[in-house]
Amino acid sequence: MPRIPVSVIEEIKERCVIEDVVSRYVTLKRSGSNLSANCPFHSERTPSFYVFPGTQSFYCFGCGAGGDVISFLMRIENLEYPDAVRRLAESVGVNIPEDDGTPGERTIPRKRLFDMNRDAARFYRDALFDERRGAEARSYLAGRGLSSAVIKRFGLGFAPDDFSMSRRMKELGYTEDELVAGFLMKVSERTGKPYDLFRRRVMFPIIDTSGRVIAFGGRVMDGSEPKYLNSSDTPVFKKSRNLFALNYAKDKCAEELILCEGYMDVIALHAVGVENAVATLGTALTPEQARIMTKYTKRVILTYDSDAAGQRADERALGLLSEVGLDVRVLKLKGAKDPDEFIKKFGVDAFRDALSGSSPRFRYVIDSIRSKYDMSTDEGRIRAIREVNEYISHVGSAVEREIYIGQAADFFEISRESIKNDVSLIIRKRRGAQKKTEAAEIAREAAGFGDRVNRDKLTQLRAASCEETVLGMLAAYPEYIKDVTGEGGLSLSPEDFMTEFGRRAFSAITEIYRENGAFDIGALCGELSEDELSRIIKLGVGRDRLDNGREVFAENVRALRAERERQRAKSDDAFEAIRRLREKNKGNT
Ligand code: CTP
Ligand code: MN
Repeated sequence: MPRIPVSVIEEIKERCVIEDVVSRYVTLKRSGSNLSANCPFHSERTPSFYVFPGTQSFYCFGCGAGGDVISFLMRIENLEYPDAVRRLAESVGVNIPEDDGTPGERTIPRKRLFDMNRDAARFYRDALFDERRGAEARSYLAGRGLSSAVIKRFGLGFAPDDFSMSRRMKELGYTEDELVAGFLMKVSERTGKPYDLFRRRVMFPIIDTSGRVIAFGGRVMDGSEPKYLNSSDTPVFKKSRNLFALNYAKDKCAEELILCEGYMDVIALHAVGVENAVATLGTALTPEQARIMTKYTKRVILTYDSDAAGQRADERALGLLSEVGLDVRVLKLKGAKDPDEFIKKFGVDAFRDALSGSSPRFRYVIDSIRSKYDMSTDEGRIRAIREVNEYISHVGSAVEREIYIGQAADFFEISRESIKNDVSLIIRKRRGAQKKTEAAEIAREAAGFGDRVNRDKLTQLRAASCEETVLGMLAAYPEYIKDVTGEGGLSLSPEDFMTEFGRRAFSAITEIYRENGAFDIGALCGELSEDELSRIIKLGVGRDRLDNGREVFAENVRALRAERERQRAKSDDAFEAIRRLREKNKGNT
């Protein structure tokens, strides 16, 4: 079976939100920053099945089933891997390349793509400022309040309703294959011939932090669909790892960064001097983007649309951003659906005022829980408080819990003591349940069944524990893969793993990374069994709330290598002893 490229899997996973797919089959309830339900894969009365929006994965603490959105679909619909991928791809409109031999795409050098994007951006810009051809687009942009200075600053352009872009690009020496690989042209399914992808659209170049054009978004000027077309990923563009306008915002956001939903919001904000605004690129916020933000800022303010979809996006983004240690706040704009509209209606000063009143995460949680219940009744209040307590019980740090308990007490006018007691009770209960499962596991192992997935674990306890840390961190933070595949300073090879499972899992992870220059847990489905994949997910999920710093990673890599050396030396010693004994015996005869 030809492997489906990781870039395609990534694209599919970026577009489908695991909680949406899962909730087609089970009813999910919020549980801290995660969601839980009764497990669809075994029968149970109390929920031990969790969905982790942050890592877009699921895990059942009861039966050990776990995976990503793809393996969820495989299990629940009983599908083979490629079929599950196809099904998801269809539902989100991603093309799976049928044969692996598409020319150009694989071989086109990055430099060539950068040049091509730059030349295309120039073409679109010239078309916009062309007296006759750009008239409609210029008046559209003027109608949206953009001055020509702002238009120029963002390098906006216009794609005419003809094939003049490709004509011009061919004059400049680009081939059709190259233009297709760069997503400026697309091969028609009907005629098999390439055509200009962006036509009669206002063009927004996506620019990386080095100032290079890496992709485009194109917006229609009327109500037609799709409203935006966006370039797909290329060797110079990963939509999951870039942010619109970060090239400008990066020098203005040391304190805080404003995350918007749309290009137009960002441009409207920059236009009035709020230059620390960025947007994602037509997808929900990704973990990579969250991590990238940590390089530039301390706090992120979410200004998603105020509709239901926006609210869900808020919750997901809140989880991702606080997971990477950013201070997150949510800005709810009253009287307008997004920042662009808000500024038009009320002006930038009102926006700045709203900004300073953005709510910290916990306040946001209280507000959204409160809005679900009727607070004028005891029943409603009790339920709301119970849900808030449940939320607090999932907070890892005792100090943070203490602070939230205080705030909740003030807010609901209940004594701190009562809230604290309830929270402790929830935590104790959960720990008890966990201990019980762990005890059962230990009993099973002690009874000689061992670890089904990792059969060598019992005889390699020390090594297995390092291996689990290393594999868990590789799964949860794929950027560590670079560190051990030669690009980083740490060397680790499959031979360093003492358990057969660890060795195989590590080989598969690094192989996928080497082949694709990227890693996605979904790609392991083809390499490992369902149970093995679940184990990797469990290890990744297990890193939640632990220290996942580079030091911890390096320490475990070193410990693993040391353990191997120790065992090798031991067996060498044994070997040496036997040899000596033999010699001696020989001498005796
Ligand atoms: N988007 C997309 N494809 C669509 C609709 C939206 O990729 N069919 C992405 C774009 O990145 C867009 C963002 O989602 O910027 C937010 O969408 P929306 O709020 O609809 O667009 P705005 O950028 O606010 O554009 P406008 O104000 O012009 O409607
Ligand atoms: Mn808008």
